[in-house]
Amino acid sequence: MPLPKINPTQTKAWSKLQAHYQSIKDVHMTQWFSENENRASAMTIKWEDFYVDYSKNRMDSKTMALLLELAEETQLKLAIAKQFEGDVINETEGREVLHTALRSPKSAKIMVEGQDIMPEIHEVKAKIKDFTTSVVDGVKKGYTNKAFTDVVNIGIGGSDLGPAMVVDALQYYKNQLTTHFVSNVDGDHVNEVLKKLNPETTLFVIVSKTFTTQETLSNANTIKDWFLKSASESDIAKHFVAVSTNIEQVKSFGIDETNIFPMWNWVGGRFSLWSAVGLSISLAVGYDNFDGLLAGAHEMDEHFKSEDFETNIPVVLALIGIWYTNFFQSESEAVIGYSQYLNQFATYLQQANMESNGKSVDRNGHKVTYQTGNIVWGEPGTNSQHAFFQLIHQGTKLIPADFIGFATSLHGNKDHQDKLMSNFIAQTEALLNGKSEKDVNIEFKQQGVSKSNSETLAPFKVFEGNKPTNTILINKLTPKSLGKLIALYEHKIFVQGVIWNVYSYDQFGVELGKQLAIKILNEFDSADQIGNHDSSTSNVLAFYKKLR
Ligand code: F6P
Repeated sequence: MPLPKINPTQTKAWSKLQAHYQSIKDVHMTQWFSENENRASAMTIKWEDFYVDYSKNRMDSKTMALLLELAEETQLKLAIAKQFEGDVINETEGREVLHTALRSPKSAKIMVEGQDIMPEIHEVKAKIKDFTTSVVDGVKKGYTNKAFTDVVNIGIGGSDLGPAMVVDALQYYKNQLTTHFVSNVDGDHVNEVLKKLNPETTLFVIVSKTFTTQETLSNANTIKDWFLKSASESDIAKHFVAVSTNIEQVKSFGIDETNIFPMWNWVGGRFSLWSAVGLSISLAVGYDNFDGLLAGAHEMDEHFKSEDFETNIPVVLALIGIWYTNFFQSESEAVIGYSQYLNQFATYLQQANMESNGKSVDRNGHKVTYQTGNIVWGEPGTNSQHAFFQLIHQGTKLIPADFIGFATSLHGNKDHQDKLMSNFIAQTEALLNGKSEKDVNIEFKQQGVSKSNSETLAPFKVFEGNKPTNTILINKLTPKSLGKLIALYEHKIFVQGVIWNVYSYDQFGVELGKQLAIKILNEFDSADQIGNHDSSTSNVLAFYKKLR
C-alpha cells in the first residue's frame, strides 16, 4: 500500500500554525528563556549517548504541539510503519524502501514480494566480512603475489558520497590500507589518483547500482586500461570487484561473478552505504567497525519506530525544519560538525536531502503551493566560524543551524578539545542572545572609546541574536554513534518528505541533464551544423568545438 497523499496545507494544523506564526514570529527567544527556567530541559532529548537540545529555536510549547498535530494529520505514524514493513512507498519507481532492513538483525523477517529478504542480506554481509578479512589480513593477494596496500572506490553520487564520508569520518579506526575515491568524469580526477598507485597492490571496487552511469563506467574503463598496461586480462579477477544490481553488465565489463557483491532495487543509491556499497568502508576500518556502524543505525531505527513523537529525535528535528521552511520561509539550513572528522558530512547530506526532497510535484501529481526540500550546507567548526558565520550572525537571512559535537576527543588532546567545545557552546549562545546596544556601549566605555566613535560604530557591533540552532552532543565518535547520526538524518529526510507529500525516493530531476549531455557529446565530433539548441547553448558549444 502506498503512502497517504495528504496536502499538508489543507490540514487544520497548518492553518493553526500560520496563525500561531503571526503571533510569535517577532518574539525574541531570550524572552521565553527568562519566562521559563525549565525551557532548556523541557526541550532536550537524552537518548543513549545523544544529547539533543532544541530549546534555542523560535518556538514555544504550543508550536511543537501544533507541529505534532501536523504529523498526526499527515499520518506520519502510518507512513513510518509502511516504510519499515516494506510497502511500495517509492510509487513512481514501483519499489519498496528498505535500507533499514540492511541494518536489521538476522532474526528479523522482512518480506518483499512474498520473500523474506533477511537471509540474502546476511549472506551478502558474510561475503563482505570474508572478503574484508582476506584483504586486510593480506591473505588475498594481487597478481604478483603481493598483499594489497590501496583500495580505490569507483562510483558517484550515492555510490561515492556515503562511503567517502564514512571512511573520512572513521579514519581514526582505519587499518593499514589506503583508501581512494574516484567519482568525477573529469579525467584529471582519475589521473591524480592513479599517480599514487601501484597496479600490483591496488584493489578496485566499482560501485554502481545500475552499472550504466557514465562517470563510473568511464573511470572504470580508464582504470582497467591503466591496469592492463602492466597486468594481463586474467589478472582482472584478482584486482577488480563490483557492487551492483546489474549482474549481466558487470560480467560483460570483465568481472568474475564471484567478485560481484549484489545489491537490490529496494535500496536507494543515496541510502545505500549500509549495503555492499559500503565495501570500501569495511575494507578501510575492518568488518567489525562496519558492523558497528550498522548496529548504531539500527538503534536509531528502533528509536524512530517506537519513540513517542515528542521525544523522537528525527521527528522533532524534521518538524523544526518544517517550521522554518514553511512558516519562516527560510531556504537553507547549515550543518556544522565540531569535528574535523565530519568534514564531508554536509556534502553527503546534500545528496541525501536535496535529491530526496527537492521536488515540486506532490504525491497526487499536482504542483505544490508550498516550499519543500531545503538547501543544506556546512563545513566543520571552527573553520566555518572564520568563513561564513558572519552572515549567520549578522546577515539578513534566517539560517537555522545544527551544531554537532563530540564530548570526547579521540586523540585525547584535552587542550584542543576544550577550545573546540568552548567554541561549539559559545556560538549557539551568541546566536541565541546576540549583543545589545547597551552591552556594546559598556564595552566601548571599558575600552576607552570616545563617545562620538561609540555612536558611529555601535550599529555595526550589535548582534540581534534570535538565530535558531539545535545542539546535538554525542559522547564520542565511534562507528556506532556515527551510524546513529547518519540514520537520524535519513529519518529526518523521510519525515519531511511524508509531510510535504512528495516522493522522496525517486530522482527524475537528474535525468534531463544526463540525456542532453549524451546528445551534446555526439555533436562534438559531428561535422554537421549544430542544431536544435537555444542560441546561447549553440554558441558555447561552437566555441568549445573550436578550442578542443
Ligand atoms: O545522481 C543520480 C544517481 O542516480 C544517484 O541517485 C545515484 O546515487 C548515482 O546517480 C549513482 O548511480 P549508480 O549507483 O547507479 O551508478
